[in-house]
Amino acid sequence: MLTQLQIHNVRNLEQVTLQGLARINIFFGANGSGKTSVLEAVHMLGMAKSFRPGATRTLVTHGKSDCTVYGVTSEGSFRSRVPVAVRRSTTGDVQIKLGGQAVRSVSELVEQLPLQVLNAASFELLTGSPAARRQFLNWGVFHVEQRFFVEWQRFQRCLKQRNKLLRHGKLDRSELTVWTRELADSGDRIHEFRLRYFELLAPSFRAIMNRLAPSLQALELRYRKGWEKSLSYSEALEAGLPADIEQGYTHIGPQRADIKVTANGYSAAETLSRGQQKLVVCGLKLAQGGLIAGPRQGACVYLVDDLPAELDQRHCALVCEALAELESQVFITCVARSDLEEMWPAPVQPAMFHVEHGTVSAAAGREDTAVSG
Ligand SMILES: Nc1ncnc2c1ncn2[C@@H]1O[C@H](COP(=O)(O)OP(=O)(O)O)[C@@H](O)[C@H]1O
Ligand SMILES: [Mg+2]
Repeated sequence: MLTQLQIHNVRNLEQVTLQGLARINIFFGANGSGKTSVLEAVHMLGMAKSFRPGATRTLVTHGKSDCTVYGVTSEGSFRSRVPVAVRRSTTGDVQIKLGGQAVRSVSELVEQLPLQVLNAASFELLTGSPAARRQFLNWGVFHVEQRFFVEWQRFQRCLKQRNKLLRHGKLDRSELTVWTRELADSGDRIHEFRLRYFELLAPSFRAIMNRLAPSLQALELRYRKGWEKSLSYSEALEAGLPADIEQGYTHIGPQRADIKVTANGYSAAETLSRGQQKLVVCGLKLAQGGLIAGPRQGACVYLVDDLPAELDQRHCALVCEALAELESQVFITCVARSDLEEMWPAPVQPAMFHVEHGTVSAAAGREDTAVSG
């Protein structure tokens, strides 16, 4: 768990120190005060980048050359490698330190602090392209299956090589056969990892949705591996070879996988209301975080931007309840203090922070307010 954060030059947060972080941390304040920026800062600590794709330059305060986030964790988390520091410059340099030691690969950082983001862009998971859902799936597999990352890299390499051969008019058949075999082997493994993960995810998602939206009956989550169901990848590649040669690239495979949510047989993205979609997205992300909490020591950190938007009070409270039960650390924003303060099941005591013009101050708890009032 993160206990302390220092934020330097992240958007409008020029110098912010957060102490006394709790499991549930609520950031409230007016529009433009810096609430999302706080979440961005935590995201940078876990992923070394912004959660808005391609937003690296705007992550740094205008007119400054770099930003830094420094986090201290409680005993036991980050596998004893505390503290964590990430610095990014507008020129693209990234420096990461774990326990005072420089780390070269971002994946090491990602492994240490798994993050789940729930914001307006999360609707992409339902309404966006399959790429967003594959990324979601990969994230989950990556965090529960250590061998996945290396396999995924191998798959990408094979795919690139095979596509290169297909692209060039004069085909070297024997070389193509070699790469096809490699690709088939790797692709089947990727699928097996994903399938095994999906078989954990689907029931967990169903259980959470039963609580968040019991009225949404017949909600179904399905996984598509990216080629004809009844075939092995190698068989499917063989069958698809003429088309691959004609088009000049590999049509089918794990790079085409998808997950689909349906309600009563209809696509959730096309039939559910915006609020219901948000609940489904919450359900997916809660299910995923819950699976990490199991096999891995450090549960993931949730960054939830403006939960009350699109949700009525009752559903908002149900999501908060589910978040609290995960035992993950949560950073969550809202406009008015009262929007989220009372949403948590006892004995959860959220830490309240007031965000104002790029400054963040700890707001007294309910009891304290009562005493001083
Ligand atoms: N790179 C930047 N440098 C300085 N200010 C920025 C930068 N990017 C965004 N801002 C400003 O920071 C303020 C806070 O943004 P944000 O954290 O999104 O607010 P909110 O509290 O509504 O979530 C906004 O006024 C925004 O214009
Ligand atoms: Mg915001």
